Amino acid sequence: MGEIVILGIDTSCDDTSASVVVDGRRILSNVVSSQTEIHRFYGGVVPELASRRHIEMIIPVVQEALSRASVELKDLSAIAVCYGPGLVGSLLVGCCFAKSVSYVEGVPLIGVNHLEGHIFSAFLLEEAPQFPFLCLVVSGGHTSLIRVDGVRQYREVGRTRDDAAGEAYDKVAKLLGLGYPGGPIIDRLSEEGDPETVTLPRGLMHEGFDFSFSGLKTAVRNLIEKIPKPISSDTLRNLCASFQEAVIDVLARKTFKALESEGLQRLVLAGGVAANRALRERMALEADRKGITLYLPPPQLCTDNGAMIASAGYFHYLQKNFAGIDLTAKAYLPVG
Ligand code: KG4
Ligand code: ZN
Repeated sequence: MGEIVILGIDTSCDDTSASVVVDGRRILSNVVSSQTEIHRFYGGVVPELASRRHIEMIIPVVQEALSRASVELKDLSAIAVCYGPGLVGSLLVGCCFAKSVSYVEGVPLIGVNHLEGHIFSAFLLEEAPQFPFLCLVVSGGHTSLIRVDGVRQYREVGRTRDDAAGEAYDKVAKLLGLGYPGGPIIDRLSEEGDPETVTLPRGLMHEGFDFSFSGLKTAVRNLIEKIPKPISSDTLRNLCASFQEAVIDVLARKTFKALESEGLQRLVLAGGVAANRALRERMALEADRKGITLYLPPPQLCTDNGAMIASAGYFHYLQKNFAGIDLTAKAYLPVG
């Protein structure tokens, strides 16, 4: 078998992304067109605006990905597209585009679950994980602990019962008037803050592997109401650091407890929040202490991208798991 060249497309939320990956591991191009400027004004993603922008961007983004990779449509072994979960209007753009190209060019089509994509971002690392492993997918839409025994062998061990961790970051940033997306801003401000100044709640800390972040968000809101305005920059930094510490503490403790309970030795961190500096440090430190091998994709592969979809698509390709022309966008799509 020659080289398998896959075009991966993700339009599940507010980034239009396309990437060309060889043999599931070697990135030839990875183009991400961010819509942050459009949604910043609203403090969060506006679904209707997101899908309209995807329509404008999908062709130029794919063209750019192909041209940077020096690949033409006819060279592709397959097109892998994320078909859920996500914003249905946004997903539809990627799906319709991928189906049309697949039909016209006669290139096989592969449907990839968005969470599965995040899991496979680890296969783009120089050293890929071996099965089985535990993956913490922590993003704006998801916070899940997934046991991965092989390709298409996933079991969700725990998940958020309300807000995702990234969503909590974005909402707290909005409450503090910091801008969107909140994660990177709070990450930066926390660097100079003291996480010990305020104690914030750790949701469901002693109850299994599910997460809850809405109580934390409410606690921050109540605290903000009591603070004299304008909030001083020191108070702001301390508040950010305390919030971040509360999020990371729950994520880390539950993840390592799940590793122990599942008898696993390998951990993959994925999703936008996995780009967080303090979370990466805490996970690395604890993994080292506990003899767990940690796989940490670089920040640009943690946030949404087409390369992770292409990588997951490659493993479907090996299993000849192709999609038909009836592939359609799914707002809700369990990974297990
Ligand atoms: O994976 P992603 O790009 O999209 C989803 O699938 O949701 O994740 C986006 C989320 C946003 O909530 C954003 O605030 C958060 O990831 N994020 C971060 C950081 N960078 C992005 N959260 C904390 N620290 C960061 N450095
Ligand atoms: Zn994502």
